[in-house]
Amino acid sequence: MATSMLLLCVAAAAAVCSMAPAVAAAGFYDKFDVVGARDHVRVLSDDGKSQQVALTLDRSSGSGFTSKDTYLFGEFSVQMKLVGGNSAGTVTSFYLSSGEGEGHDEIDIEFMGNLSGDPYVMNTNVWANGDGKKEHQFYLWFDPTADYHVYKIIWNPKNIIFQVDDVPVRTFKKYDDLAYPQSKPMRLHATLWDGSYWATRHGDVKIDWSGAPFVVSYRGYSANACVNNNPAGGWSSSWCPEGTAAWISRELDGAGLGTVAWAERNYMSYNYCADGWRFPQGFPAECSRN
Ligand SMILES: *[C@@H]1O[C@H](CO)[C@@H](O)[C@H](O)[C@H]1NC(C)=O
Repeated sequence: MATSMLLLCVAAAAAVCSMAPAVAAAGFYDKFDVVGARDHVRVLSDDGKSQQVALTLDRSSGSGFTSKDTYLFGEFSVQMKLVGGNSAGTVTSFYLSSGEGEGHDEIDIEFMGNLSGDPYVMNTNVWANGDGKKEHQFYLWFDPTADYHVYKIIWNPKNIIFQVDDVPVRTFKKYDDLAYPQSKPMRLHATLWDGSYWATRHGDVKIDWSGAPFVVSYRGYSANACVNNNPAGGWSSSWCPEGTAAWISRELDGAGLGTVAWAERNYMSYNYCADGWRFPQGFPAECSRN
């Protein structure tokens, strides 16, 4: 029901969906709230459309930014250049969340730092109705600290697609009988924080503060996403922008499934569906479907 209303809205874009005003140019502080210490978030450039922002982590604080809008489905991408050198213990994130609390939804990309020369791990995860033990983790096929790379989340009623430089590495499908993030609007978050207790070699390697401040840079953020600022969710309060048709029903084709298989074969470092120790009663249902 909800889905068909949205599709109707997209199909009848001229009539229903374009009643909202065109998106005006907006600077960083129009689009985002700062999280953590304000002076740990540096806007390096801002032409009112596109920004370059550096987040800092030191002993006193981590930092981040959160979208003022909440969204129900969208395509979110950003370029990131991760903390270089000894980044062990640091966690850099780009994720969507419906908020704290029971039954929340979340779609995560998180980068766990490492000792100099050792590889970062990119964690991807999906939470639906408070259940989030669904990690796929990958090493990257390039040094993510040497330059900017594009990280993208596509979230639509059919699936969630994670992409690195436009290469799909994971798809998380919706099954009608299983929980899926589809009704709670989410905010976009980007953060840099101390994850020493968890991040590097399962928490064995802590942050070395002598290397602080740690800095991660973001640029070229883009969200082509249906804005829904009604905490109760529901399609009737969604406004979908022009361009929605390009992602709202996108699923991976053969080539996309091929790159997912390639990433799993060559770069996967953890798959919850292969972690029998964690699921002694049997794997989550989606693990045996396709
Ligand atoms: C850090 O490097 C070690 C050794 O190469 C590796 O086992 C581990 O997966 C890397 N990443 C993290 C986040 O621990």
